[in-house]
Amino acid sequence: MLIKYNPGMGWIERIIEDRGGEVGFAEFMELALYDPDHGYYSGSEPRYGRHGDFLTAPTASPWYTRVLAAFLVHLADRVGQVSLVDLAAGDGSLLAGVSQALGEKETEVLGRRVAVERSSAMRDRLVHRLPAKVEVVEDLVEAEQTSGPVVVHASELYDALPVERVIAGPEGLNELQVAVVEGTLTWRERPAGENVAAYFRDHGVRLEPGQVAEACLGAQDLHGRHLQWAGDDALMLTLDYGYEARRLYDARGRGQGSLACYRRHVLSRDPLESPGQQDITAHVNWDDLRLLARANGWQEIGLLPLAEFLIRAGLAEVAETLDLGMEAPMDARTIRERQEMKRLLDPEGMGSDLKVLIQGRGRMGALGSQLGRMQHSRKTPPRG
Ligand SMILES: C[S@@+](CC[C@H](N)C(=O)[O-])C[C@H]1O[C@@H](n2cnc3c(N)ncnc32)[C@H](O)[C@@H]1O
Repeated sequence: MLIKYNPGMGWIERIIEDRGGEVGFAEFMELALYDPDHGYYSGSEPRYGRHGDFLTAPTASPWYTRVLAAFLVHLADRVGQVSLVDLAAGDGSLLAGVSQALGEKETEVLGRRVAVERSSAMRDRLVHRLPAKVEVVEDLVEAEQTSGPVVVHASELYDALPVERVIAGPEGLNELQVAVVEGTLTWRERPAGENVAAYFRDHGVRLEPGQVAEACLGAQDLHGRHLQWAGDDALMLTLDYGYEARRLYDARGRGQGSLACYRRHVLSRDPLESPGQQDITAHVNWDDLRLLARANGWQEIGLLPLAEFLIRAGLAEVAETLDLGMEAPMDARTIRERQEMKRLLDPEGMGSDLKVLIQGRGRMGALGSQLGRMQHSRKTPPRG
């Protein structure tokens, strides 16, 4: 077939034309975020962090990795070395921060360290930033399965997965597809495919006429592969924005869906604008990850707002260890560090909106379920 390109067309319009002029929204989002040449996450500079488009817990403040490091010390005191896997490792902030906080304790506390990152530019960065013993892979299945205790960590992986987008019409569900019309990206409605309709049916969701919603058809499969890899002695910590299905698909709260785009910390609701130049994200349906894990014998320990997770995991004790507790002199260091802490605890922001799903198996599951009662021993302080 001979395709006549409009010379003014952008890269994504050309690809969509090549594919017949119209693609489902998940395919559009896959291109916009992950196209190897133009995708948002394929560039050589990380898109997140203070100088990027949005913050994540590991890039927002060093307190996230300080607390995680102290939590790992607590686990290792009880089970010996713990392996740490970071899914969607991004620019390596999580693994580098944990390593810095552990200092000389690192080899005693950590066994294998695995960074899993889809973007090849970020994998190059990880290889340069992290010590050679950190395994850097594109997909967790490439790493040999671990036999000992492991913590699998994922920050904002699942809300970066492509989603299908639907709108409820009088005759049933329609998918919102993306077409190229006269060289321009345009929405098109098509009757929803059976897999999309089944997703909502299986979650017991009925959308109201005119309601827009997203469905991440790949989340369960991906989480299932991670759970399987993690084995029988594991703790899975999944940080993300989302709700359980009942709330996520409640027309009163999110009648227009949860899809959001970010550029330079500014929110937009138009994913067709500047493909490859802005982040596109959709809230996680926590039930996808919860139901699957339960069906596979995993214990659900909690789904906690980030602030509560950090407090339960020992934030106050870590602050005391660093002489930054309640009794600390109110000098420039204390003020600066409290500001850093506040970024993660803010009840108007990350502290309540970002959630941590804690799932466990075996000894690690039992230890994880003690999060609420944890006391860190003072003999193993994390470094600042
Ligand atoms: C929002 S960023 C989060 C980065 C980091 N976890 C953080 O919190 O700072 C999402 C990252 O997930 C990566 N990613 C997306 N899908 C992935 C997958 N299936 N496996 C591994 N990484 C993935 C992207 O390339 C991107 O670096």
